[in-house]
Amino acid sequence: MTHTPVLQEKVIEALKINASDVVVDATYGGGGHSRAILAQLGAGGRLLALDRDPEAVARARRDFGGDARFDAVHAKFSQLGPVLRARGLERRVDAMLFDLGISSLQLDEPRRGFGFRADGPLDMRMNRGEGQSAAEWLANVGERELARTLRDFGEERFAGRIARAIKRRRPAGTADLAAAVAEAAPTRERSKHPATRAFLAIRIAVNDELGEVRAALPQALEALAPRGRLAVLSFHSLEDRLVKRFLREEARGDPHPPDMPVREESLHPRLKIVGKPRRADAAEVAANRRARSAVLRVAEKLPETSVKTPTAH
Ligand SMILES: C[S@@+](CC[C@H](N)C(=O)[O-])C[C@H]1O[C@@H](n2cnc3c(N)ncnc32)[C@H](O)[C@@H]1O
Repeated sequence: MTHTPVLQEKVIEALKINASDVVVDATYGGGGHSRAILAQLGAGGRLLALDRDPEAVARARRDFGGDARFDAVHAKFSQLGPVLRARGLERRVDAMLFDLGISSLQLDEPRRGFGFRADGPLDMRMNRGEGQSAAEWLANVGERELARTLRDFGEERFAGRIARAIKRRRPAGTADLAAAVAEAAPTRERSKHPATRAFLAIRIAVNDELGEVRAALPQALEALAPRGRLAVLSFHSLEDRLVKRFLREEARGDPHPPDMPVREESLHPRLKIVGKPRRADAAEVAANRRARSAVLRVAEKLPETSVKTPTAH
């Protein structure tokens, strides 16, 4: 089992790594991007990798533990600020990558409960030591809330009837959940298992994936050194929308009343958006289905400008 890194060349190009840089890989996963980052770093460079999944961290330590430039931390990226502060790296990060979602290693491992192709326990937690499993979450959630989750996170058209079917069935494992969804969905989409959307939605809820991204982005911006680069790979429209809005707002600067004339320098933009969002080309999508929905957004931290007080006219 492996995880093929998505948009690897474009990510490396976007991060513009110098030999002596401090780099953060906020989502180690299978370590594909980390490996490519280490190849850019010289002896004086440093790579700090995070993952909330203890199995990913164990893999990181096994694969790169002997490399003095590398350190792996078991943490959620919503804890980025404290993790960097503890290492004296605040405002010192030259390049940072977020490759959101789950890895193929997690998806393809039936005992983790993310997939419906083989039967497994209804778990779906990226860290099995924390929070409710999918089975517990499904037992505790109300039918309306479940329907809302399926609709909002999975864009599931038949959210209401699927939620009802799941609550009635109280599925025992992933195969049972997939069967409940398939039986309740009145139509089929081409090349998509009927349970794809429900599994995605439940996984996002169980791991509070959007809350994590929302909490992490301001900490990432804070952690960057002037001219530091931020690259975020999203695979879901809601996730990408959060990233897009954050980057736009920080590139625009402080909010101000729309009818007030503002001088450019009083806006204090903190980021510059670098280029257009990048996507995988047809060849990459053909080789790696996971790449089909990937969107890479890149930004650069602007050097701090002194805070200007408004002058009287
Ligand atoms: C798409 S994979 C990363 C793949 C990696 N870039 C590679 O090349 O192998 C996402 C990884 O991020 C981790 N992850 C997801 N959300 C996280 C969070 N909030 N904090 C820390 N790690 C997270 C997952 O456990 C998973 O291992």
